[in-house]
This record gives sequence, C-alpha cells and structure tokens, in this order.
Amino acid sequence: MKKLPSVGIVGATGAVGVQLIKCLEVRGFPLSSLRLFASARSAGKRLPFRGQDLIVEELGSRSFEGLDIALFSAGGSTSREYIPIAAKAGTVSIDNSSAFRMTDGVPLIVPEVNPQALGPDDKIIANPNCSTIIALVPLWPIHQRLSISRVVVSTYQAASGAGAAGMAELEHSTRAHLAGEAFAPQVFPHSYAFNVFSHNSKVDIEDGDNEEEAKMLKETRKIFSAPGFRISATCVRVPVMRAHCESLHVECEKPVDLEEVRGILSNAPGVRIVDDRAGNKFPMPVEASGQDDILVGRLRMDTTDPTNRSFWMFVSGDQLLKGAALNAVQIAELLLQK
Ligand code: A2P
Repeated sequence: MKKLPSVGIVGATGAVGVQLIKCLEVRGFPLSSLRLFASARSAGKRLPFRGQDLIVEELGSRSFEGLDIALFSAGGSTSREYIPIAAKAGTVSIDNSSAFRMTDGVPLIVPEVNPQALGPDDKIIANPNCSTIIALVPLWPIHQRLSISRVVVSTYQAASGAGAAGMAELEHSTRAHLAGEAFAPQVFPHSYAFNVFSHNSKVDIEDGDNEEEAKMLKETRKIFSAPGFRISATCVRVPVMRAHCESLHVECEKPVDLEEVRGILSNAPGVRIVDDRAGNKFPMPVEASGQDDILVGRLRMDTTDPTNRSFWMFVSGDQLLKGAALNAVQIAELLLQK
C-alpha cells in the first residue's frame, strides 16, 4: 500500500471497538480516513477520533467499497457474513473473532512471535484468542532460547472477554450483591459478583475441555508452527474488569537457569518484569489494565522437578489491548510495512 490506507472498524461501539479507535489514535496510525460501523442500533452515534466526532454507520454489504483495511470485532457471525464480502471488495480484514483462526491459509498473527506468517497478498488475517496472545508473548522468546517441552496454564479471565455486556454484568451484579438485591445473570451462566467459575464457553462432553482451553492449544500450535506443541489449559472467569492473569508452569528440554529466563524476558518485546519478592508485588490486573505490556513475575523454579527443567511464572495483560485491539492494530502496522 503506497498511499495512506482508508480504515474501517466493524463493531466500533463495542468494548474492543472503542479500544481500536484509541489504539489508532495513540499510535498515530497513518490513515487517510476512518469509518466506524456497528449494528442499526448504533447508527448515527458519534465517537471521537483525533479531535473530531465520527458518525457510526450501519454495517451493510456496500460498506467496504473504497476501504483498504477493516478491523473486525463484532462477533463470529458478523465476521463470517461480511469478511468474504470485504475480501471481494479488495479490503484486507483483520478479524478479532474466532471465525477464521483455524482456517488453512489464514495467518494467525502475534507480531512479536510470527510476523513472517503474514503474506503481502493475504486478504483475511486472524487475531488470536486473548488468553493465547497473553501467554505467548512471554513464552515465545523462552521457547526460542530454551526449547519448551510442555506448558500447563491456569487462567484468571476478566469480564471484558465477553464484551461490553459482560463488563456491565460484572458491575451490575456487584452493585446488586452489595445492596442485598437479587440479580439474574444474562451474559454469564452464573452469578459473577464475588464468584469464580469455569470459563463460560461450551464444554466438550468427551474430553472435558471447554472451547477456550481448546483454542489455547490449537492456536498456540498454529502460531508457533509446532503441530505437536504441548500446552494444556484450565480457563476460569474471575470478577475482574479487563485484564487477564495466567499462571504458567513451563517445562523445558534441558535444565533451566532462572537468571537466564529473567534475562530473556527482560529483553523480550511487549514484556515487563514485575517480580518483587521482598515487597510481595507481582503482576496484577489493576496495573496491567490500560497499558500495552504483558506483566511477568513470580518467576521461580518448580522444586518438585528433580531434573531442574521446570519453572513457574505468573502473567497479567490487558485483554482489550494486547489481548485484542492493540494486537490487531500492530498487525495492521505490519501490513503497511509489507
Ligand atoms: P452495537 O453496539 O450496535 O450492538 P461487544 O463485543 O462489546 O459486545 O461489541 C460488539 C460490537 O459488535 C458492537 O459494536 C456491536 O454494535 C457490533 N455488532 C453486533 N452485531 C452486529 C451486526 N449484526 N452488524 C454490525 N455490528 C454488529
């Protein structure tokens, strides 16, 4: 793309959509025009961008005419319906939904990990699952240097992964709980206030994994180009607004020197070490929220592994930023470089 691209955001009024607008603005993304799309419910609404109010348009099959890049964050069914239409119009779509992530020929990109997977002629590019991105940004540089043989991860996932309605449900259920009022959950299957529950995606009756856990496995293998990579997950919702945490148990091929791991992480793009043992201060959602880095800490050997090949780390990353909008805008930046 030689001229400045025209960009559209599909799902601009949603939790991720609003962050997409902010990321484009904060990062000074070079564009000739920005158009905002949502459902008919939001048509005519105004959202600020670079000192102007942009008017939200209802998404339709002609929305992509003259559009170079479309950032999609309006759910899987909208992506499935409109991304093929966008591709026909010559628009490159960067999709935040899971609709095309595992489709052959569709690159699944974390810019710090596999920028080379993005081809100059790709019309559909998938943005990975938020928990997957947040785990892989610190795991990848370790894997490159130390050859990881297995990862066991437990997630502590925020409400924002379920969109604006999920965030509102956390707030409203908490207010109701504190007021001693009954609250009927609508987005989540269980009461969210002061509770922790297994991730609200569908559970496979045969193997017991929910869809979020299956996504972490499949997507990691695709992003790492490692079909046999061993990562096993337990995904859980916690009553936190917008940053996920993950506990990662990492086993390497050879004995590990924790100082080497620390050195690798301190030079890793998109990673910030927060590992204050004396002060008992480690990655937290309140500090991860609203900023770009994946916070990494609680680095310690697993002393029950007599071969010294296993260690722990605890990470926290903003689900709406690096887990979604920021990663998508970084992909768009990569696209411009190609
Ligand atoms: P709207 O606000 O008009 O409903 P979230 O992930 O926070 O739930 O946001 C979902 C986003 O996707 C919103 O911007 C929403 O618009 C948009 N959206 C949902 N369904 C459609 C649709 N059929 N066509 C276009 N945009 C949609």
